[in-house]
Amino acid sequence: MGGVSNATLPPLSPLPSADRPDVAARLRESLLAASFTADGLLELLGAPAYAALARSETVPALRATRGDTPLEALVRLFLLQQPVPHARVAEFLPVRACVDAGWLVPTGDDEVAAAVDVRPYGGPDGEDWFIVSDLGCAVGGAGGIGSKDEGVVLGVGGASTTLAGITVRRPVTAALDLGAGSGIQALHAAQHATRVTATDLNPRALHCTALTLALSGAPAADLREGSLFEPLPDDGTYDLIVSNPPFVISPGARLTYRDGGMGGDDLCRSLVQGAGERLNDGGFAQFLANWQHVEGEDWQDRLRSWVPRGCDAWIVQREVQDVTQYAELWLRDAGDHRGDPAEYQAHYDAWLDEFEARKVKAVGFGWITLRKTAAVEPVITVEEWSYAVEQPLGDAVAAHFERLDYLRAHDDAALLAGRFRLVTEVVQEQVGLPGAEDPEHVVLRQHRGMRRATKVDTVGAGFAGVCDGSLSAGRILDAIAQLVGEDPVSLRDRTPAQIRLLVEQGFLEPAE
Ligand SMILES: C[S@@+](CC[C@H](N)C(=O)[O-])C[C@H]1O[C@@H](n2cnc3c(N)ncnc32)[C@H](O)[C@@H]1O
Repeated sequence: MGGVSNATLPPLSPLPSADRPDVAARLRESLLAASFTADGLLELLGAPAYAALARSETVPALRATRGDTPLEALVRLFLLQQPVPHARVAEFLPVRACVDAGWLVPTGDDEVAAAVDVRPYGGPDGEDWFIVSDLGCAVGGAGGIGSKDEGVVLGVGGASTTLAGITVRRPVTAALDLGAGSGIQALHAAQHATRVTATDLNPRALHCTALTLALSGAPAADLREGSLFEPLPDDGTYDLIVSNPPFVISPGARLTYRDGGMGGDDLCRSLVQGAGERLNDGGFAQFLANWQHVEGEDWQDRLRSWVPRGCDAWIVQREVQDVTQYAELWLRDAGDHRGDPAEYQAHYDAWLDEFEARKVKAVGFGWITLRKTAAVEPVITVEEWSYAVEQPLGDAVAAHFERLDYLRAHDDAALLAGRFRLVTEVVQEQVGLPGAEDPEHVVLRQHRGMRRATKVDTVGAGFAGVCDGSLSAGRILDAIAQLVGEDPVSLRDRTPAQIRLLVEQGFLEPAE
């Protein structure tokens, strides 16, 4: 299916040459000199216009760039698809070299236009990077993407930054970005991996990845064209695998950047299953994914069955949409709602037919992290957490698996001999009726990382409050038993499960 036949659309424009690193370096210097950076943009546009641009809304940015500074001209050129007079551009860009290498295109009338969208993007340590993608496709969003060409390459969207934020960032030798697109994940990985391999089914995407890396001043990656793990060498293994795959569950392949072309959630399943044998010991594989909620099946069991052998897994469902919300979201993403109403209805029908045939009631969206382990009994955690989190979460993800190792290595007796510390910025909330003397229940809440909240009983709350790393868990429980008049042996018997949960969820950390 397709909203508008590709034959009626202008073809995607040729991309700049990826073999002119000299021009990319000069262009980079000129962009930085004009403060064409994330901070520079924010200052020029102001927060509302900056945010609107990230939603693909260009009117506020057009209004904010009526002046004649180089920065305003660059915003119009590279972000708003406005031609700018050649002579003016020549004041701040190596315009002839940029035309030769294909970054700029003469449009007649002594003007030049950008061949690609070049979007300033701030790295985690204040780096000034640039993401290269197809024109008008820097984000999806309410207006729908700017092109329906199946090979269109999108820029940075919410999913891209979510994955970049949850990725474990530690020095590694080999990283793989599967489905690299504009190259944002490869760019992040290049900061902490000695070698980065970037793959994509779409050669145009690999071309954009090369341009993004060059224009951001990052080392080139090993680019490989093909589906899933196919383009990798047989013996290729990695310390980090990241993928924001084309996870959309749709009736038939259509837009390469989002529709996997396999039935249902098979592409995500294949990705997760295939990652196990590609990971080095202790290595992480991190994915965004969509999964089906099938009638008569527990969604958590479905996901557990995807986890490959020899891997711990942490799977977080962040959102669930019923099939109508899901179909509408992606019809809008493709801009179908702006076309012929009868066609829109037919497309909508096709999505619902597909879900009905698969007995799918809803679709889950979330994060899947695998860690290769030598443990005899890998641990698979599947949970739902739809509340706001504090990004970047990479350190919190790594810490989750470290706590898992601790818990696996400590039986209940060892746990009671251990000492724990309450994690910083955990607070206690008492919930109950206004005016009531005693709270109905007590909640511990984190203000960092996953920002979890968990109900505890009075023993749990008292225990957590005393944990400053000095006394063993057992000694603390003995003191609580005395205070509340409970048998210390029974308290030692029944509490380890609660301590385990508090450690697993990151409220308490081992002090040793
Ligand atoms: C959602 S985009 C992600 C782009 C980028 N990594 C990001 O995080 O923004 C998915 C990418 O996967 C690519 N892709 C689609 N099918 C694929 C497949 N079977 N194997 C590998 N890559 C694929 C698309 O071309 C697209 O570039």
